[in-house]
Amino acid sequence: MTESVPALEDPDPPFASVDEVVDALREQGYIADTRLATTVFLLTRLDKPLLLEGPAGVGKTELAKMLALATGRRLLRLQCYEGQDETKALYEWDYGKQLMYTQILREKIGQVVADAPDLAGAVERIGAEESVFFSERFLAPRPLLEAIRSPQPVVLLIDEVDRADEALEAVLLETLGEFQISIPEVGTFTADQRPYVLLTSNNTRDLAAALKRRCLHLFLDYPEAARELEIVRSKKTGLSDSLAEELVNVVRGLRELELRKAPSISETIDWARTLAVLGVEELNAQILSDTVSVVVKYDKDVKKALDALPRLVDPNAVVEEHSHGHGHGHGHGHGHGHSDESDDGDVDGRSKRADKDTAGRHGEGAYGTPDYAKGSEKDAPAKVRNVTSGQGSRSFGLGRKRAL
Ligand SMILES: Nc1ncnc2c1ncn2[C@@H]1O[C@H](COP(=O)(O)OP(=O)(O)O)[C@@H](O)[C@H]1O
Ligand SMILES: [Mg+2]
Repeated sequence: MTESVPALEDPDPPFASVDEVVDALREQGYIADTRLATTVFLLTRLDKPLLLEGPAGVGKTELAKMLALATGRRLLRLQCYEGQDETKALYEWDYGKQLMYTQILREKIGQVVADAPDLAGAVERIGAEESVFFSERFLAPRPLLEAIRSPQPVVLLIDEVDRADEALEAVLLETLGEFQISIPEVGTFTADQRPYVLLTSNNTRDLAAALKRRCLHLFLDYPEAARELEIVRSKKTGLSDSLAEELVNVVRGLRELELRKAPSISETIDWARTLAVLGVEELNAQILSDTVSVVVKYDKDVKKALDALPRLVDPNAVVEEHSHGHGHGHGHGHGHGHSDESDDGDVDGRSKRADKDTAGRHGEGAYGTPDYAKGSEKDAPAKVRNVTSGQGSRSFGLGRKRAL
């Protein structure tokens, strides 16, 4: 099936098949399942960005880094944050450089305005020379422009896009749509070779339906037990395979608890390293309890984890009072506002799988649906945006004022 996908853009696509994606990523130390690898394959063949959604620590950012390594492309990263404006994403004018040039050229500039009859006349003269200072020489490209201008194709990672304001999201949407950036003073830049664009979101807020529509979409959840074990093993933690397997199952059990921040893959790896360093030869409730702070970081979570560990490490242990294990009906993901969830936006950890199967028995389908296959059917109606396509000019205006 994969062979029949036509190559639209890249005359020399890096992967001939989904299997090649799996192998190439594995070579870089990234363990992908077929669903993930298929999506990556499509990313390299179709002219679309890839939106990766899922809880923190499931390998979203890492995928972009490893894809860059696997394809030999340079990685450009736009880390999103609240209050970020588009100049940080597109480009800025290098004010310091402009200033330095005007200082050095003070005399020359003096000559230009020397015989101006009055102030208005002098301003006119300077205005006529303005294009000198708003030229490519004084342009400070930020990741989007850099990706577009790059002579070599790149991987562009737009990380944690859910942290950005919706205004920036609109700018991204516009830019990713055409892959060109117009700078009024300079002209329009268009990418020769399209970058592979990966956007990640920890789902702290809903993204615009329009953005989702534009993108291939993949929900990355915690991996199934076998893959997580493979990841842990690949990190050479020093923990024996059999203990690592037990540990993965314990961590999976912790994820079933209603924790503020569920342990992610990196925590499993850290825990494995910790236990290896301690020379642990058998997993028991005691040693897991003593080291549990490696994987759960909030006080309340620690208490819940300590309660659960005995039965997680030994399912036959009788646990008094607490009913355990089975579905409580918390079958869904994100943002059902407990009061302690909203301060750092890190609400991803409670993404609960509806199924409470034991480790190792999951089929692919248990971890969310490959939404890229469905387009935007599930999207919420688009929100009304107060952003116009011309909003980029705001910042140019500012830059200009400052520079003169
Ligand atoms: N599929 C994977 N293969 C290998 N390591 C992985 C994988 N997924 C996650 N990891 C490990 O987990 C860590 C956290 O992943 P990261 O990409 O930072 O998470 P996210 O961006 O989803 O929050 C990575 O540094 C890596 O060590
Ligand atoms: Mg990340």
